[in-house]
Amino acid sequence: MRKKIVAGNWKMNKLADEAVALTSELVNMANDEVKGDVKVILCPPSIYLTTINKYIENAPNFSLAAQNCSDKVSGAFTGEISAAMLKSIGVEYVLIGHSERRQYFNENNALLAEKVNTALANGVSPIFCCGESLDQRQNEDFIGFVKNQISESLFHLSAQEILSVVIAYEPIWAIGTGLTASAEQAQEMHAALRAHLADKYGADVAEEISILYGGSVTAASADELFASPDIDGGLVGGASLKSREFTNIIKAR
Ligand code: PGA
Repeated sequence: MRKKIVAGNWKMNKLADEAVALTSELVNMANDEVKGDVKVILCPPSIYLTTINKYIENAPNFSLAAQNCSDKVSGAFTGEISAAMLKSIGVEYVLIGHSERRQYFNENNALLAEKVNTALANGVSPIFCCGESLDQRQNEDFIGFVKNQISESLFHLSAQEILSVVIAYEPIWAIGTGLTASAEQAQEMHAALRAHLADKYGADVAEEISILYGGSVTAASADELFASPDIDGGLVGGASLKSREFTNIIKAR
């Protein structure tokens, strides 16, 4: 049985005191209100990871993700943060291949494969993001495009390795735009991606891999999305910055 996962990607938002306040509110609300088996992954800016780790100590369902890591192991790469460093401060997950990093930092499928490797080598689980643009959805084999993102960045992994990866399907046209993919559109892609994983690794492995949906998820849209058979939770941007809204998404069924 795949566990529901709700991840909050704060992107480049919140000052230090605001980050602590948001975390405290989320932990308190979750302790009071969240029933059932759901994993919550907070993805704050890396500079806050150590501090926030202390605030989630008494919240067993909460984990931390970095928003990025270097593809390099260590050395003279000014400004970069390695997967080993993340592991050393207790970070369990790392977002890899978010569309904003692909777009603004020119990250391609081959580079992302290297990041996946270094994360896994250090015991940090990648949350691998993929998704098509509006132009691709309208004019191309958009499902084939997303399948290829997965093949080129993940299919060199062994079955055991890929079981440590979480996939997040985030159509670029739905990120930060208020345009959520419909539950049918998202389910269509998630089922296609699971079938793609099954072709490579077998159905048993594919059934174990969590595939999250991301793109303008709100408390209002989460219930219907998360009820779809191949949608195992969400990667939430804007709505993860508000404790009430994000808690309601965590509670969505
Ligand atoms: P959004 O962002 O929820 O604000 O659309 C999602 C994401 O980019 O992970």
